[in-house]
Amino acid sequence: MAFLRMLFQVACVVVMLSKMAAAASLAKPSCQHRNSKPMLGNLIVNNIDSIQGELEVLMFIAHQCYQNSSGVPRLENSPSLRVKHFTISNTKNKFVAIGCDTYAFLNAFQNNEPFSIGCTSTCQSLRNVFKGSCSGIGCCQVEIPKGLKNFTLEARSYNNHAEVWDFSPCSFAFVAKEGKFKFSPDYLKNKRAEINDTFPMVLDWAIGNKTCETARSKPDYVCGRNSACYDPENGDGYRCKCNKGYEGNPYLPHGCQDINECQVRKPACNATAKCTNIKGSFKCTCPDGYEGDGKIDGTGCSPKASDSQYSKIIIIAVIAIGIGLVVLFVGGSSLYCGLKRRKLFKLKEKFFQQNGGLLLQQKLSNDRTSMQAVKIFSSRVLGQGSYGTVYKGLLPDNKLVAIKKSKFCDQSQIEQFINEVIVLTQINHRNVVKLLGCCLETDMPLLVYEFITNGTLSKHIHDKVLASSLSWEKRLKIATDIAGALAYMHFSASIPIIHRDVKPANILLDDNYLAKVSDFGTSRLVPLDQTQISTLVQGTLGYLDPEYFHSSQLTEKSDVYSFGVVVAELLTGKKAISFDGPEIDRNLAMYFSYAVKEDRLHQIIVDHLVSDGNTYEIDEVANLVKRCLSVRGEDRPTMKEVAMELDGLRSMEKHQLGKENLCKEEPDIGVTAPAIHCFNMGVDNGCSSTSTTAGYEISMRTQALKPSDDGR
Ligand SMILES: *[C@@H]1O[C@H](CO)[C@@H](O)[C@H](O)[C@H]1NC(C)=O
Ligand SMILES: *[C@@H]1O[C@H](CO)[C@@H](O)[C@H](O)[C@H]1NC(C)=O
Ligand SMILES: *[C@@H]1O[C@H](CO)[C@@H](O)[C@H](O)[C@H]1NC(C)=O
Ligand SMILES: *[C@@H]1O[C@H](CO)[C@@H](O)[C@H](O)[C@H]1NC(C)=O
Ligand SMILES: *[C@@H]1O[C@H](CO)[C@@H](O)[C@H](O)[C@H]1NC(C)=O
Repeated sequence: MAFLRMLFQVACVVVMLSKMAAAASLAKPSCQHRNSKPMLGNLIVNNIDSIQGELEVLMFIAHQCYQNSSGVPRLENSPSLRVKHFTISNTKNKFVAIGCDTYAFLNAFQNNEPFSIGCTSTCQSLRNVFKGSCSGIGCCQVEIPKGLKNFTLEARSYNNHAEVWDFSPCSFAFVAKEGKFKFSPDYLKNKRAEINDTFPMVLDWAIGNKTCETARSKPDYVCGRNSACYDPENGDGYRCKCNKGYEGNPYLPHGCQDINECQVRKPACNATAKCTNIKGSFKCTCPDGYEGDGKIDGTGCSPKASDSQYSKIIIIAVIAIGIGLVVLFVGGSSLYCGLKRRKLFKLKEKFFQQNGGLLLQQKLSNDRTSMQAVKIFSSRVLGQGSYGTVYKGLLPDNKLVAIKKSKFCDQSQIEQFINEVIVLTQINHRNVVKLLGCCLETDMPLLVYEFITNGTLSKHIHDKVLASSLSWEKRLKIATDIAGALAYMHFSASIPIIHRDVKPANILLDDNYLAKVSDFGTSRLVPLDQTQISTLVQGTLGYLDPEYFHSSQLTEKSDVYSFGVVVAELLTGKKAISFDGPEIDRNLAMYFSYAVKEDRLHQIIVDHLVSDGNTYEIDEVANLVKRCLSVRGEDRPTMKEVAMELDGLRSMEKHQLGKENLCKEEPDIGVTAPAIHCFNMGVDNGCSSTSTTAGYEISMRTQALKPSDDGR
């Protein structure tokens, strides 16, 4: 109750001191107007700020003074302020001690626990003491912590001021409102302080010791109408403040009153606008034909845009937004398409490079003429090569082609592909399959060949029906063709080429049984100054030169050996390696050589081959084969010798028997290398979806397909 009484006093003080709310109606009716200054205990209250919750009082100064240098007698004072609801403002005060032999305490309670702060000041003479400097020499000043209340001030001396009595007979301690105290050395000289000497300090006050949350539900909650409760930053209890737009004493039951801004804040509205006060705020009304909030610190009043102008603006805005959307859509989708196309282009370029395109570009002529599209029938698999699948393809002019696609896409496979392209650019021979083009922009490189209609020699030898129609003459012609092709590769190509994988599966036949050597993936170009090269042994078991197998030294005689096995196969119809029969018979080369040596060739030869007139030829060929199958390479004839011997036998046969050539002899095509063009795939629209299931279209550039070139 004592506090409430004091609070009422405070409220009265508000009434008296507040410049803003001087109206007597704001005061509690029971308040007595007093003419004397308000007091807090025995302290004079200088100011009360009900908004900030502050109270400025004149607090006594603590002192301890000595009458002479012997230290006695002395006068001292330790004033205190023992009140519950007032907390020393931590932000607006400092604790100060003054003296040259001085220490001081501020003893208080924080959260009901004793709490002291101290300050020390010494000096040996006034020389070191400076006006305005309060750093421990003659003057000491410290911050005040939060939540200090119920305090006593104490000024003390270390040595009864005996040494410094002449210029500093006293110690002083006080709490000073910030800005109200400025140190000067004159303070030190004061011989004695009056018991009632004071200094202004600021106290924070609040109501009770509960927070707003708890206090609100209590019957003694005091915040009045149009006010809000808030918890102070320093100390316990709660405070009240008027809501925005209201003023007055929030601690009174009828609380805060609305501010009539139209009167108080003049001018609140733009001169042209009408001001209307509303609860907690005010309103400005612009005159007709004007718009805006009308407030002096707002948008004011400006002439209205007319309705027709409005609708024009709306129409223009709608059109602009529409155009914007269309532009955005078109731009976005074309950007998307562009990006997608670019991505595809990049992919193609990547494949092109990955597939050795750059290498080829360097090697091959970049003369590009016509552009043709090839359709690949992925379902028409023609065969599985050593390193790729061969598909049947159709050019737009209905010309068939064979397209070889790498089975695996590792680098060595691709190298083989590129190797084949390079090798084939060196060869132009009618008994060598013709490469028409290549495509390096797909994920796996593609090679496009002339389409050889009749399949592999292997098929013709080992298929019973086909084999029965494969006469001696045809077989001799095939052997001669192969020999011619290999002889050409070994001796007439611009760089000698060793095929390395001669076998019936790599020899293709057309309708006229014209044989064409194919599959140059493992072939090697042998520089002219080298007669042999060391390589990783490659080839097919059964056809592989045993000498090469053991030494890794590759010479063209390895092809001679393989050729021997192929002709042995042609003669016997047996596979190069068979896994039935006695071990000696398993390897056709050995089996054949023994048979010739033991003069029992006719036991092993294909039954229907032998006729009256051809035993000599068969014997000659068999002997040639035996020489080709010599274990030592140097014992084998060269392909040139082989080709000449076979040619001789053939012409003899033709001459002797007067038989018409089975195949019409064609003139050799010119000796220049064919133009092989590696083309860029022409996928034109990145945005349209391309079906890849049934087959795919490839555009290729080639000039190799001329009617004169493909008569077989
Ligand atoms: C100091 O004052 C006291 C009492 O006034 C006196 O008895 C004492 O002699 C004085 N001492 C000096 C050194 O003056
Ligand atoms: C202030 O502290 C003193 C002890 O120093 C105690 O006796 C007194 O009751 C306290 N007063 C208030 C109002 O808390
Ligand atoms: C302090 O007290 C002295 C008498 O002891 C008196 O003369 C003086 O006016 C008082 N000062 C104040 C500020 O009350
Ligand atoms: C709060 O104040 C009440 C009465 O004024 C008192 O009984 C209580 O102990 C105080 N609580 C604290 C935590 O100070
Ligand atoms: C009223 O508002 C208009 C438009 O904002 C402004 O031009 C004018 O100066 C304002 N008048 C006053 C008195 O503020």
